[in-house]
Amino acid sequence: MPAKKSPARPRELLFGDLWEFDPAPESAEPFIAPRYGLFIDDKFTAPKSRKYFDTIAPRNGAKLSEIALANAADVDAAYTAAAKAFPAWSKLPGKERGKYLFRIARLLQDRAREFAVAETLDGGKPIKESRDFDLPMAAAHFFYHAGWADKLEFVAPGRTLQPLGVVGQIIPWNFPLLMLAWKIAPALATGNTVVLKPAETTSITALKFATILQQAGLPPGVVNIVTGAGETGAAVVDHPLAAKIAFTGSTEVGKIIQRALAGSGKKLSLELGGKAANIVFEDAPLDQAVEGIVNGIFFNQGHVCCAGSRLLVQESVADLVVAKLKRRMQVLRVGDPLDKNTDIGAINSAEQLAKIKDLVASGVKEGAELHQPSCKLPAKGFYHAPTLFTKVSQSHRVAREEIFGPVLSVLTFRTPEEAIEKASNTPFGLSAGVWTDKGSKILKMAAELKAGVVWANTYNKFDPSSPFGGYKQSGFGREGGKHGLLDYAILK
Ligand code: NAI
Ligand code: MG
Repeated sequence: MPAKKSPARPRELLFGDLWEFDPAPESAEPFIAPRYGLFIDDKFTAPKSRKYFDTIAPRNGAKLSEIALANAADVDAAYTAAAKAFPAWSKLPGKERGKYLFRIARLLQDRAREFAVAETLDGGKPIKESRDFDLPMAAAHFFYHAGWADKLEFVAPGRTLQPLGVVGQIIPWNFPLLMLAWKIAPALATGNTVVLKPAETTSITALKFATILQQAGLPPGVVNIVTGAGETGAAVVDHPLAAKIAFTGSTEVGKIIQRALAGSGKKLSLELGGKAANIVFEDAPLDQAVEGIVNGIFFNQGHVCCAGSRLLVQESVADLVVAKLKRRMQVLRVGDPLDKNTDIGAINSAEQLAKIKDLVASGVKEGAELHQPSCKLPAKGFYHAPTLFTKVSQSHRVAREEIFGPVLSVLTFRTPEEAIEKASNTPFGLSAGVWTDKGSKILKMAAELKAGVVWANTYNKFDPSSPFGGYKQSGFGREGGKHGLLDYAILK
């Protein structure tokens, strides 16, 4: 009897081929006003400049709202309100200040869905990230600092913390509400008052946050929010009433601010760019490492100052790790950030997309090998496919410059010493990742890497109690934990 012919084996199927999801858009109402004024002295007020600018949704380019453009006179009004509010706020017992912070934290939790949708619309990040990361973390920062407000005498034994006065705070567009929380919560806990400027592409959640302050009954002038771009930011930096400037953003603007403040006596903290090494040793749990690599670079489209944008993988496992990574990248879902199944949402702005494309083109031109999964990008809006570069050398721009997009460069190493040398071959020093089975290797690497945060067998994990900040051109000062409180106080 002839042997039964076995059916042809199907080609190896990938998850991406098998599963098509129906659209699952988040449907909560974001309550976005057609136009926002400046938030000064507890009131939304029209800007003296009489100018407004549009804020758009990166997912499709549609206009969302009009935002007031604050000029120097508007910034002055905000500082004047903050200075007026300072004496009473700073004298309030810590326990009372703490109550306001608890209230703000709870209100953020109450309105979390509304805020998550607004954040995703205005900034482009996937709804599952704004819902599961940005909002809970923002609330956590207020809860954490609420707890400190009446315990400041325990921050530094035998010393007391005194507030600085009015602090000017300038934040970026990658984690708009979360960066606001990182800045405002410790400033208020320590008794300062605030003038905050959100980034020009993502002002909405800061202005919605102002309504939370009203709901919480925060005294007028304790927090003021001025909107606008670089010129408004410069006015915040230059104002004579500022006792401190806290800035998160590009290294380039950080340097401008440091120059502007030199000799002024104002305190300064800078949280700037990064080009972190995510280091995978041959003894690491490789599948777990691949998840960490993906999370390290594709979280928030790679718009993350501590993104693990340089993968350093030990030569003996490099081919295997890259093969696993390519398979994993094939099933990442790129598309509408409002869809609950989306892993990689929209790039924040047309400018940022152009910058990413330029750097990717430089990678190809300089001889690195480009890999992108086959994925269909939406026709409208700003999108970029997850991108992997192999055959990267340390001199390539993609290995040196902060791309701030979903682009990973792979380099290899043979020994821990070589890994440290390559990881340190950068002007930045914000973060790093180490993947290995050996605790001793983790400790050695963490001690020798010049980075503010070193994650071991994980990546992009945050906690309000853990200080965050950089070395070298990644800036100075810390946010979170006791160190963060000390950056908003004078020790007496
Ligand atoms: P940016 O540094 O210009 O913007 C950050 C904030 O600074 C915004 O609120 C902006 O309005 C304000 N600003 C701009 N010029 C200012 C000035 N002269 N004085 C005071 N404030 C000023 O960042 P940008 O142009 O939006 O992004 C450019 C690149 O910077 C990105 O491609 C990325 O590589 C990097 N970046 C890094 C961030 C980080 O968290 N490390 C955040 C944002 C951008
Ligand atoms: Mg800029």
